Amino acid sequence: MAGASGGTLLKVCRRFYLCVSRAGYHPVEFLVSELSVARSLLESKTSDKGTLPIGVGYIAWVLEKYPSKDSEALISAALDANVQALWFAFGDDMGRWIRYVRENAPKGKAPLIFVQVNSVDEAVNAVEQLKADVIVAQGIESGGHGGNYAPPLSDLLQTILARFSGSPQAPVVLAAGGLANGIDVASHIARGASGAVMGTRFLLTPESKYTNAQREALLAAGSEDTIRSMAFDYARDALGWPEGVDGRGLRNDTVADFEQGVDLELIRAKYKEAMQNQDRKRLLVWAGTGVGSMNRIMPARDVMEDLQRELEYQSKHDVNPSARLQ
Ligand SMILES: Cc1cc2nc3c(=O)[nH]c(=O)nc-3n(C[C@H](O)[C@H](O)[C@H](O)COP(=O)(O)O)c2cc1C
Repeated sequence: MAGASGGTLLKVCRRFYLCVSRAGYHPVEFLVSELSVARSLLESKTSDKGTLPIGVGYIAWVLEKYPSKDSEALISAALDANVQALWFAFGDDMGRWIRYVRENAPKGKAPLIFVQVNSVDEAVNAVEQLKADVIVAQGIESGGHGGNYAPPLSDLLQTILARFSGSPQAPVVLAAGGLANGIDVASHIARGASGAVMGTRFLLTPESKYTNAQREALLAAGSEDTIRSMAFDYARDALGWPEGVDGRGLRNDTVADFEQGVDLELIRAKYKEAMQNQDRKRLLVWAGTGVGSMNRIMPARDVMEDLQRELEYQSKHDVNPSARLQ
């Protein structure tokens, strides 16, 4: 997750949970150092040269913005670290980077390719053209960036699964967007997802790189307090997102000023000051609609254990949940 993951959050990774760290906003040295932190934290679970059980996420338009050699170096750093997966999202030419991965991965050690999609057409492209190993179906409820054209997660998931039903190319599909707990995850698994991706839930951990003020804002928020907007990308001057991509975060005065057409330079100045002072009224806090059900800051390990317990409870008490949902 851009700006929030990495470092110690990666410590909770296990074989079956893939944590995605981010690349692209930082020089390659930063990524190399994060990967070495991950390697040392997960040492007991990996041999020296074994697969590193994490993924690295790339925002494709950011890769496209920099000289090819710099972007390729970012991908090569992850390949050299032998990470388990690479994740691509938000770009018009993801194929270019995925080709680079396939051409440069050491023989027999190609990472899994995850592609995040917001529509069935994007899923078809990811499967048929990009040959993605895993599709992340990201619904409109999701925190952080996503397509403003995405349908609600349940609809998106159902359409994608129906499109590939019975096809030899049927992909592994993960559900993302607005999920707060194991019950939410179980309901999408019952609908046919192979698993789920959660972002906002992990912001409410001491290990995330969010500040105390950002975490407190998340704790105080209800699900009605989030909004999709470009306000924060204008305020922090992070523009270049593909057409139709915006971000869901907590509504605050930065958003209100943007909506009312306040002068951009003024919004930027106030935003900069707020980030310095950690003023919750204007801070950037990405959040999905599930935030209203998240009421505690707890260690990432405990989040994982809770999720596991909730999922197990659900499967014990609902032997055939998919039948119930049909
Ligand atoms: C702080 C934050 C940063 C994110 N950064 C990225 C990113 O760099 N690349 C990406 O593909 N998705 C990113 N996402 C979206 C997540 O991959 C995921 O789709 C989303 O968090 C799921 O919704 P949820 O937050 O409601 O769980 C981010 C989400 C958050 C909350």
